[in-house]
Amino acid sequence: MLRPPRPRLRANQPHKTDNRRMAEKYCIITYGCQMNEHDSEIMEGLLRRRGYERTTDERTADVVVFNTCCVREGAENRAIARCESLRSAKEHNPRMVVAMSGCVAQDQGRRLLERIPHLDLVVGTRDYIHLPELIQRYLVDGERLVATEDIDKPLSVNTVPVRQSGLRGFVNIMYGCNNRCTFCIVPKTRGEEWSRPVDDVVHEVRAMVTQGYREVTLLGQNVNSYMTETREDFADLLHALNGIDGLWRIRYTTSNPKSCRDRHIGAVADCEKVMENLHLPVQSGNDRILRLMKRAYNAKRYRYLVELFREQNPLHSLTTDIIVGFPTETEEEFEETLRLVEEMRYDSAFMFMYSPRAGTVSADTMRDDVPLRVKKARLQRLIDLQESISAEKNREELGRVHEVLVEGPAKKDPEALQGRTRTDKMVVFRGNPRMVGNLVQVKVTGGTSHTLLAEAVTREPEPLEAAPAT
Ligand code: SAH
Ligand code: F3S
Repeated sequence: MLRPPRPRLRANQPHKTDNRRMAEKYCIITYGCQMNEHDSEIMEGLLRRRGYERTTDERTADVVVFNTCCVREGAENRAIARCESLRSAKEHNPRMVVAMSGCVAQDQGRRLLERIPHLDLVVGTRDYIHLPELIQRYLVDGERLVATEDIDKPLSVNTVPVRQSGLRGFVNIMYGCNNRCTFCIVPKTRGEEWSRPVDDVVHEVRAMVTQGYREVTLLGQNVNSYMTETREDFADLLHALNGIDGLWRIRYTTSNPKSCRDRHIGAVADCEKVMENLHLPVQSGNDRILRLMKRAYNAKRYRYLVELFREQNPLHSLTTDIIVGFPTETEEEFEETLRLVEEMRYDSAFMFMYSPRAGTVSADTMRDDVPLRVKKARLQRLIDLQESISAEKNREELGRVHEVLVEGPAKKDPEALQGRTRTDKMVVFRGNPRMVGNLVQVKVTGGTSHTLLAEAVTREPEPLEAAPAT
């Protein structure tokens, strides 16, 4: 281990000259996906339990955590640059502990300590649940630490995350990914798939409901390949959660076309609390590219799955992820993706330019041969197409009535309220502030490709359900 260029500190030594010990402050800066967001909520819970308080100013924090993403190069570079920019703040406050967690930490480990001289801790994607102990160890020993060895270990600890909202919250149901999509770094940074027992998840969701939560989003890299050590699958989990009194809405992400089974589709149809949105990443509409990506389905199979799903779940919205400019992708092959997008009529999509990631099969064995300007042009064509489909689909919503879970004041218009439909569309409407936290019916009056405008049909909020029995 490398030695830090600074005097040793005792862990319980007050950091301020004031006689009264002031609470130490943490600042967590999060990049990337919902799983990272939730990992940050868990780290926040762990730090709060140790008496730390939150600050949003990283320069004055006692502990700064950069929770990073390396799925694409841009996200990785942004996180590292921001961490590097903390150097002068740390020179002014040498007691500050700077940590990096998440996928960049897991992927690069010790190399980060060499690259960033003021970085103290590198914390892996399953070791982060020991964050307070690692900070403590560092403060006592004064040695910079790399903790990335738990990558394939089960993560069956009960945590108390500090969630961003008191109404809707993320719940991890599984960790890791056993697929080997050739472009993707996630299996390397998040390890082997491991599913939490159904009872653990149910227990966590019940506890959330008693605190007032009404909606959960189940998180996993491939939620429909959820399989516990006692052979309970995703359908079993959905049924178990659907039976929780006081829980109104269940969402889940991400589903993998490879793992779509009749049982999953049937459970979604049978469980009335499971919301009407399916996120089913397609990545490409061309079979040769899908084979090179090792996605384990072709475009025909994907179409079939969507058809099957829509037959049983006709009201669902459909969203996806797409990569353009994968190595060797030709113009014609890219146009097959456009055709598939037109045919599927996605409600929305996350669209990316291929970004080679060292350690993935595609980066290590294929040349990134689609020029950047071609990738950019393809991405723009795809975005334009998807935006026009999203706008068209939202125009079709005119006059329809939706159930919305009201989250609070609208971001851009504090006089209005915002919430999401069962199909996961954001709705902005005028209403009584007492509606916040309730389900209300709204009628769509307009909108853009991203947001629906509506008027409340429910004048008064419906009475809250009785507090659930515990
Ligand atoms: N199973 C996860 C995938 C995580 S990565 C999930 O479905 O959420 C999220 C998305 O990022 C992928 O679906 C893919 O579209 C995109 N992505 C992953 N690796 C990429 C890369 N090397 N270049 C560009 N986009 C990538
Ligand atoms: Fe990545 Fe494919 Fe798994 S996109 S997370 S390797 S399903």
